[in-house]
Amino acid sequence: MTLRHFLTTQDWSRADLDAVLEQAAQFKQSKIGRQMAGKSIALLFFNPSMRTRTSFELGAHQLGGHAVVLQPGKDAWPIEFDVGTVMDGDTEEHVAEVARVLSRYVDLIAVRAFPKFQDWAVDREDRVIHAFAKYSTVPVINMETITHPCQELAHVMALKERFGELKGRKYVLTWTYHPKALNTAVANSGLLIATRYGMDVTLLCPTPDYVLDQRYMDAAKRNVAENGGSLTVSHDIESSYRDAQIVYAKSWGALPYFGRWDQEKPIRDAHKHFIVDEAKMALTDNGVFSHCLPLRRNVKATDAVMDSPACIAIEEAENRIHVQKAIMAALV
Ligand code: CP
Repeated sequence: MTLRHFLTTQDWSRADLDAVLEQAAQFKQSKIGRQMAGKSIALLFFNPSMRTRTSFELGAHQLGGHAVVLQPGKDAWPIEFDVGTVMDGDTEEHVAEVARVLSRYVDLIAVRAFPKFQDWAVDREDRVIHAFAKYSTVPVINMETITHPCQELAHVMALKERFGELKGRKYVLTWTYHPKALNTAVANSGLLIATRYGMDVTLLCPTPDYVLDQRYMDAAKRNVAENGGSLTVSHDIESSYRDAQIVYAKSWGALPYFGRWDQEKPIRDAHKHFIVDEAKMALTDNGVFSHCLPLRRNVKATDAVMDSPACIAIEEAENRIHVQKAIMAALV
């Protein structure tokens, strides 16, 4: 039997995702479950985290299980991912051993591994999590690599709580300013999950260079073909926000500039006005605003937007623990 992982929501059917959301809603009502009694999860963080680490650790605990946090290269040995390499550099052990040894100890392995931001052609292979999925003999969960599927489910759960049915809702995924070029993961994920749930999606970004990877644009188009809704790319702020019901903001680096961010910087700096503010939200149809967090206030979104009743980012963050408990319960 093929081992079931949670690497992307695209691998799970709508019925599977709906079942996770239903279980998550039950966990939100009543925290306690025993689905992980006597079970454990290894949480491997190659990058920093606040929400993901806290919610997975607590989620495992609330289900009667145990979480082990490892930071390879910091409190655990640096890991090699290349195949056939002579390991005479900084890495001390190969993922082939790490994944198989951890599989003898724990029942689930979760991985956070961001792109290196030097060469998108390499980063888009998502090698770290796929190596774990290849060598692991227990299910592997994506805690954010080049997509962020746990965030997707927390996001759609928060939207369902606010709107009920999502099909046909006008959804704007907007690029917003940040002084650094950030991961495209949450933007890819917003695109995937919004089209999966049949919404009318506008991808609003400064220039064509900020359009997301073709793999995710194509997946979103397939989602539209299967689930209804629509997908539009726009660089016009006013028409994108007008009558929107959902505004989801994220900053990301332009793919053609990977590895030469000094050349992207002037373009990004010329689009600080993409900040989500009251004037833009006033164009919406009483729309809600969300962001995966962390968020730099008055850079990505204003204080007024973050502190308004329209902001559901805290609800979305809370939902991380509920959906992750449901994912862990489904996989152990
Ligand atoms: N949204 C999110 O994944 O938060 P952290 O980076 O704090 O885990």
